[in-house]
Amino acid sequence: MPLLRRGFVIRLLLLAAQTSPFTPPIGSGKTPWEPTSSPLVLMTWRDTWRDILAGGSPRWKVDNLEYKERALQHIVEHSKRKENLNILCPLVGDDQFVFQSFMRGHSVYAIDLVPEALAEIRKQFDNQDGWRREETETGSGVRWTHPSGQVVLLEGDILQRRKELERQFDVVYDKDSFGALQKDLRSPYCERMSEWLKEDGIVYLEVKNKDTGRENGPPFHIEEQDIMSSWGASFEYIKGIGEVYPLRMAGFAQMGHLLKHVK
Ligand SMILES: C[S@@+](CC[C@H](N)C(=O)[O-])C[C@H]1O[C@@H](n2cnc3c(N)ncnc32)[C@H](O)[C@@H]1O
Repeated sequence: MPLLRRGFVIRLLLLAAQTSPFTPPIGSGKTPWEPTSSPLVLMTWRDTWRDILAGGSPRWKVDNLEYKERALQHIVEHSKRKENLNILCPLVGDDQFVFQSFMRGHSVYAIDLVPEALAEIRKQFDNQDGWRREETETGSGVRWTHPSGQVVLLEGDILQRRKELERQFDVVYDKDSFGALQKDLRSPYCERMSEWLKEDGIVYLEVKNKDTGRENGPPFHIEEQDIMSSWGASFEYIKGIGEVYPLRMAGFAQMGHLLKHVK
């Protein structure tokens, strides 16, 4: 392809990536936030966060504490324990759910690759400087602990095996995390969640339904059968919650689901 035309095509692809609600697909590069030879993933997760924080499109972000509170209500209703839950937030971004859960007396362990996203979570708390920063014992990331000890933010890869997290959590809160994974990473992701959840733990999932482009993602169009073909090895379907709140993206609906850990 002539050089000029190739440059134009690459610019077009980059523009598409910038306007896509999620970019890039998780697991699409060697390390998902590093540039790769594919123009579609040139805009890496770190770059995506830089763009969001510089005032670019908010993509998947939903900043509304009322919605976070509603998610917590569904969780508490279906969880065996009702108080002092230990909640895991995989691929958390800067989700206000962490702060809201802390306010309700729960403990939260949140994981994301991008330090800037987790820094945004710390800003939502008073006394930003009180957080303790340390390298994990296994060298698999940086861990930030809130002075209360109730909230831990881990800068690291969700797919990494972590012995110290096995059977630690009552709940997995997954908003747009499963739905952003490249399809071949769904099973390894669900395996980690199964390892880290307690036996009777539950999963609260929020995924997208789309009017068009259902085969493509992220975000992927996800229904009960898509969920169960990945989670089904270790989880039972409790129920579909239906549309959990309206989105500003036309043609997209935010759907809630609840699962129970069975082995
Ligand atoms: C689609 S966003 C969803 C963020 C959040 N769950 C929300 O809905 O607000 C996906 C997030 O996953 C993070 N991420 C991507 N790959 C990851 C990985 N391998 N391990 C941990 N986090 C990752 C990105 O930095 C990004 O914040």
